[in-house]
Amino acid sequence: KNIVILISGGGSNMAAIVRAARREQWQERFGARVAAVISNRADAGGLVFAREQGIAAEVVDHKRHDSREAFEAELAEAIDRHRPALVVLAGFMRILTPGFVARYAGRLLNIHPSLLPAFPGLHTHQRALDAGCQVAGATVHQVTAELDHGPILEQAVVPVLPGDTAQTLATRVLTQEHLIYPRAIASLLQSA
Ligand code: GRF
Repeated sequence: KNIVILISGGGSNMAAIVRAARREQWQERFGARVAAVISNRADAGGLVFAREQGIAAEVVDHKRHDSREAFEAELAEAIDRHRPALVVLAGFMRILTPGFVARYAGRLLNIHPSLLPAFPGLHTHQRALDAGCQVAGATVHQVTAELDHGPILEQAVVPVLPGDTAQTLATRVLTQEHLIYPRAIASLLQSA
């Protein structure tokens, strides 16, 4: 079972998944492996990590397409070359059309840095602070046509602490993301 991970930047969630796959022996236990990392940005730091791990690291640059559909057609082609059982969005910052989501229905995951359904969209940590939230967190969910919604697989809660800024809260949440994403994928692989 091939896993393809889509990134746009540093790829710390992708790296956590790659490390978990090795540490927890997903290949031996589930016949699963991270087959490729694909980024929509050529300058994504996560591509360097993937290459160092000997994982196919590819770029499908959204700026080279004049329509969302054309970009997604090339992205789908790159993904499908690896015949993925699972497509994992990890810090992937492009909104996907319902047509693309439908193509991968049931095998498309995302991680969002809030306790969905609270705070879909961007700037989740600042919005949680502005709202006076006393807890925050992250959510792993199945991707559906509606942005940042879909069946929830895992969540993690962190406290909001006095003096927190969006950055200090983001750092605390990201640490939890690195735990719940591999956990969510492993439990999907286990039940497959
Ligand atoms: C982070 O804000 C994380 O909360 C969200 O995507 C951003 C980058 O994550 N999931 P990553 O380091 O590229 O995985």
